[in-house]
Amino acid sequence: MKVSVSALAALSVLQTTVGAIELNPDDPNSIKKATKIVAAGLRKWYTGDRPGDTPGNLPDPYYWWEAGAMFNAFVDYWYYTGDDTYNAITEQAMVHQIGDFNAFMPPNQTKTLGNDDQAFWGMAAMSAAENKFPDSKQPDTPSWLMLAQAVFNTQAPRWNTETCGGGLKWQIFHFNRGYDYKNTISNGCFFNIAARLAKYTGNTTYSEWAEKAWDWQRNIGLIDQNYQFYDGSDDRKNCSKLSHIQWTYNAGVHMAGAAALWNISTTNNNQAEAEKWRKHLEGIITGTSVFFHPEAKDVMYEVACEMNGKCNNDQRSFKAYLARWMGYSMKVAPFTIPMIMPKLRASAIAAAKQCNAGPDQTTCGLRWWQNGVNDGSFGPGEQMAAMEVMQNLLIDEVPGPVTENTGGLSKSDPAAGSQAEVQPVEFDELTTGDRAGAGILTTVVLVGVLGGAWWMVS
Ligand SMILES: *[C@@H]1O[C@H](CO)[C@@H](O)[C@H](O)[C@H]1NC(C)=O
Ligand SMILES: *[C@@H]1O[C@H](CO)[C@@H](O)[C@H](O)[C@H]1NC(C)=O
Ligand SMILES: *[C@@H]1O[C@H](CO)[C@@H](O)[C@H](O)[C@H]1NC(C)=O
Ligand SMILES: *[C@@H]1O[C@H](CO)[C@@H](O)[C@H](O)[C@H]1NC(C)=O
Repeated sequence: MKVSVSALAALSVLQTTVGAIELNPDDPNSIKKATKIVAAGLRKWYTGDRPGDTPGNLPDPYYWWEAGAMFNAFVDYWYYTGDDTYNAITEQAMVHQIGDFNAFMPPNQTKTLGNDDQAFWGMAAMSAAENKFPDSKQPDTPSWLMLAQAVFNTQAPRWNTETCGGGLKWQIFHFNRGYDYKNTISNGCFFNIAARLAKYTGNTTYSEWAEKAWDWQRNIGLIDQNYQFYDGSDDRKNCSKLSHIQWTYNAGVHMAGAAALWNISTTNNNQAEAEKWRKHLEGIITGTSVFFHPEAKDVMYEVACEMNGKCNNDQRSFKAYLARWMGYSMKVAPFTIPMIMPKLRASAIAAAKQCNAGPDQTTCGLRWWQNGVNDGSFGPGEQMAAMEVMQNLLIDEVPGPVTENTGGLSKSDPAAGSQAEVQPVEFDELTTGDRAGAGILTTVVLVGVLGGAWWMVS
């Protein structure tokens, strides 16, 4: 099954690789130029701003959550490069998708709205607040911070102690497939948002929830002693069995949360907590070695599905989020730079080298470890991953996420979204057969793990 890198390198001689994007990781201008090309390629996939289309949606078959992830990438793009080309479509999309309870729960998305899907938009709003992305001036529009708080406030009451001793279920609504599954990405995004809200606002309620989500996942084994993150667990079996599939984005969302908690405790001179989170953060970073190619040194890959060509549309974007949170972690926990930067650099160079396909000869594929050979897999996921791995090299160009006390402008409302508890959403009868969202494959895999290698999608 495994194709050796040298065989692929030989193949590359046969292909003309005239294009490719130039990237000198030591030169911020070169990084910005490269990222600009890739960002333009990502933007081409987006149609929601066209007349008659819906702002915030990617065209089929791309799910709603991925659009939220994409606008997070554009928020960061503006932050890292100063190029505001995509700010207007980003604001328009995020405001249009605010939905019920001002918490990114648009009724149109009920069928695909898991906790993780909602949280990807919530994380975009959190990044907007941290980066001082201008708040929308449209009347009656909440601030970016309020939107992130609303996502938190709708999710915390969903903490479910009926089974598994706690945890968030994957799904919000009982009629969606996956309601019986407690997964790492849902709990990890909640952890990420809670930790960053704690850092931004100084409110310890958020950090207590972050600790709770972390401790629960450790207890169930979704995070193991070697900081490997597994996909999730069936709550009908009281989480006694796990799906051991590993995704880059699970490590990513947790890395950022741990970095934020280290930052808070260090800033507060709480040495015991700082030491604890330093250890966790180092462990998470070391644990990501599973996501770096065994032969192409320090080049990131999606271990569960890249080698066997089985990454679905969702999964083809996951590397974007590991790269994103590697950048964030270096910014808020600078001691991690020597551990993280070599991997991000090698990955960015490898990614740029294969962005050489399509009529423009700058379209990026999925596999970065083939020494410049583009694998012909195109989409917003591939494009976003290449963009994130490049733009996060620019950490020295930005001051880092603000807080309420260090220049934050986005207004706080600790009660945002809490009306959701007293005013539950009303549903129409829905069919659940077509339900899919982040990680849908994984529930299926849970039933029959161990087809090939345990970590691989079969
Ligand atoms: C919901 O769908 C309708 C019909 O397609 C569309 O007009 C509206 O903008 C959508 N709302 C959101 C928040 O996506
Ligand atoms: C279910 O799992 C939780 C967490 O591991 C444990 O505390 C609880 O005792 C288990 N319940 C049953 C009925 O096994
Ligand atoms: C905490 O994070 C901020 C950026 O949000 C950074 O400026 C600061 O140096 C970090 N604190 C420590 C102790 O590293
Ligand atoms: C802290 O956050 C919690 C949860 O949202 C909220 O209930 C509480 O009022 C907040 N405290 C302060 C001082 O803002």
